[in-house]
Amino acid sequence: MARVDTGYDEIGYCARFRLETVSLVVFPFKDEPASLVANNIRTAARHQVVEEVWAVVAGEDNIANSLLDATRAISDETSTPIEIVLQQRIGSLRPGKGDAMNTAIRRAAEREWQRVHFYDADITNFDESWIDGAESAADRGFGVVRHRFPRASTDAMITWMITRPGLAIEFPETFLPRLNQPLGGELLLTRPALEALADSPTVGDRSDWGIDTLITYETSVLESGVYEHHVPDGKRHTLYGSLDDIRTMSLECLDAVASLHGRPAPGPEVPHGSDRPTPAPPDLKRTVAYDIEGSLRLLTSGWTPAEAELASGLPDAVEVPFLENRVRPNFAFMDADLWFAALGYLIDNFRLGDSAWESLAFRLWLSRVLAYTTGQALSGYSQAMRYLESTIGDYEKTSR
Ligand code: DGY
Repeated sequence: MARVDTGYDEIGYCARFRLETVSLVVFPFKDEPASLVANNIRTAARHQVVEEVWAVVAGEDNIANSLLDATRAISDETSTPIEIVLQQRIGSLRPGKGDAMNTAIRRAAEREWQRVHFYDADITNFDESWIDGAESAADRGFGVVRHRFPRASTDAMITWMITRPGLAIEFPETFLPRLNQPLGGELLLTRPALEALADSPTVGDRSDWGIDTLITYETSVLESGVYEHHVPDGKRHTLYGSLDDIRTMSLECLDAVASLHGRPAPGPEVPHGSDRPTPAPPDLKRTVAYDIEGSLRLLTSGWTPAEAELASGLPDAVEVPFLENRVRPNFAFMDADLWFAALGYLIDNFRLGDSAWESLAFRLWLSRVLAYTTGQALSGYSQAMRYLESTIGDYEKTSR
């Protein structure tokens, strides 16, 4: 196999001789439109460093005939093999994205792939610059490359309110809480990271939406380091309706970040680098990412005595105004400090699969998201983003 001289990178790694890139691109998918999945597969298959593309599908019923026809045509046109791989049952939680990612991780590890890119199949602005950006950081010696991108100020509400605060509480003063997209499914794993993930029982077990958090954590402690490649145009994809659409995701991501409690933090020797962010595109600054009115009724509906009982473990300053939701929506009280207290309670006690805990956690998160959306988010994009970023820094300081 040919060797390529890539020189030295800026953090001092010697990456002078590496095997010529052998890159695989993986798209986990379920019910995304076949034409969109096919477009993304085509973009990857046309790229000169990509030797194979896998689309990992949640179930046989999700394979549209039109997708099969399209992949055959793309493969003929590009001479890149394309495989549709059926997601295996690997973990013990709800079968979901984690099983799809783990199917690909284990299969790629067995087959000696050197670099594996993952991209969510629903990206509408996927182009070769994503692959170029990741490959170039890997050429400079980073073991993992994560894509980062601007998002609407009311989007990424699990990232901003659960995952990054949770990482700030658990791993203050490390780069983990400062990663821009810790839930991002867009990343490049080099061989050592791939092997570490394939061998990790906690990653293997995480079959649900919690997989991204586990991969983020497990790859943050590898000595090969993490680079964040910036995608200036943002990741364009379908936004949700009411926050109920991401209820399961919010709960599984909460459970995942809570499961990291007590794990060792990445040491200061782990290299972390990032492209400089660029200003967000104007249309993104105007986007409201979810239906606020549709989300309001979720605060008041379906209360049970068991949920109210669990709420009694919260500090009074949260519990009293929060319980008013049994009668009428009340959320404006949930500022960053009270949310810190509520999230700490959830991280210590939450039980995934227990309906009272799930309802309580979802409703508390909803209160926080609505308080921010109707408060700071109205003060303009840049100010809102600065505010969100400052909450993460404050949580890191408070947790010490
Ligand atoms: C997040 O919070 O990042 C999830 O993708 C939902 O937007």
